[in-house]
Amino acid sequence: MNRSTKLALAVALALGVAACGKEEPKPAPKAAAPAGVTVTIAHAGPLTGSIAHLGKDDENGTALAVAQANDKKLVIGGMPVTFKMTSEDDQADPKTGTTVAQKLVDAKVAAVIGHLNSGVTIPASEIYTKAGIPVISGAATNPTLTERGLKGVFRTVGRDDQQGPAIAAYIASDLKAKKVAILDDKTAYGEGLANEVEKALKAAKVSVVTRERVTDKETDFKAVLTKVKSRGPDVIFHGGMDATGGPMLKQARELGIKAAFAFGDGACTDEMSKLAGAAAEGLICSQAGLPAEAASKEFLDAFKAKYGDVKQYAPYFYDATLAVIEAMKKANSTDPAKFGPEIYNVSFTGATGKVEFDAKGDRKDAEITIFRLKDGNIKPLAVVKNGVSTPFGQAAEAAKPAEAAKPAAPKK
Ligand code: ALA
Repeated sequence: MNRSTKLALAVALALGVAACGKEEPKPAPKAAAPAGVTVTIAHAGPLTGSIAHLGKDDENGTALAVAQANDKKLVIGGMPVTFKMTSEDDQADPKTGTTVAQKLVDAKVAAVIGHLNSGVTIPASEIYTKAGIPVISGAATNPTLTERGLKGVFRTVGRDDQQGPAIAAYIASDLKAKKVAILDDKTAYGEGLANEVEKALKAAKVSVVTRERVTDKETDFKAVLTKVKSRGPDVIFHGGMDATGGPMLKQARELGIKAAFAFGDGACTDEMSKLAGAAAEGLICSQAGLPAEAASKEFLDAFKAKYGDVKQYAPYFYDATLAVIEAMKKANSTDPAKFGPEIYNVSFTGATGKVEFDAKGDRKDAEITIFRLKDGNIKPLAVVKNGVSTPFGQAAEAAKPAEAAKPAAPKK
């Protein structure tokens, strides 16, 4: 084809198209379907090591919220949003936690749901806030987390200055302890909670007969327990996780220690009976939230169908994830700079009740639950809210929606 033939053909084609255009209206230009955005929400926590069972539970709570948000086909800022969860293993180690935090910052995740341990969450949160990425933990209870004036740091559970006095009050009033031995695992959480318990017990005129320190890596406590035994405590409190609390309790019984054991949330799981066997029966412990069985039916049904039983704070990680998505909806943006500040303004009913944060980023009206381990499982005894303790049955009844409390309509 020479040049002029090509030109003639092009003209003919153009005319043809124009002619066609006259007869048949041109199809309207296809409305460009908005491409949509993929927003990454990160979970970070211990996924390997001795408390991986707890990290996995938290990850599952986060994953469920992300999957449900995708089912809703949300449009934010005019764009269909697909949420993606990425999950990082911090190995319950502060140093690994900061490495993981930097990795998530570099990956430009929109928000971080985590971590589990206060000792990891505290340093990691500094890295997130510097990068303008909000972080919400559903497990970290040490007050320092939200006491540093850092913007964009939240938690959906209570704090150890609520948990410590609550478990100490139970030790003093219900266990009627006269002499208490206190141990901790030297982590920010374990030591901080043990300090709170010690302070509250002393204020209640209960004698603290010894204060011992172990680590979160130890599993042989015979030497320290022998020392504790010599002080004759009637209650032993340990600030640590179930991975150390379980063996400690078992070894205490092997040494013939009869004292009652009390633990904070780190060791307030059914795992205790797996680790300590029959020795775990009767232990007292607290969690910085409501028991799993008090979570919403919708959450429990969906969670159980996918992952089985809740181990501990999965509902609190689920609600942390919902808080991020709520804030994105409020800001109509998935940009952390825009939705981050809106997390302070969210107000919704999640799996764990009404979720709102105060100006520090702490959960408003946080509950602490006291449990006793019976027949292999921890059973809730009482819920402490704003310093007031209510038997669990009553607290659960009061928390039910008004509709459910109404007497049934008489049958016709
Ligand atoms: N509440 C525990 C902590 O803060 C799990 O580390």
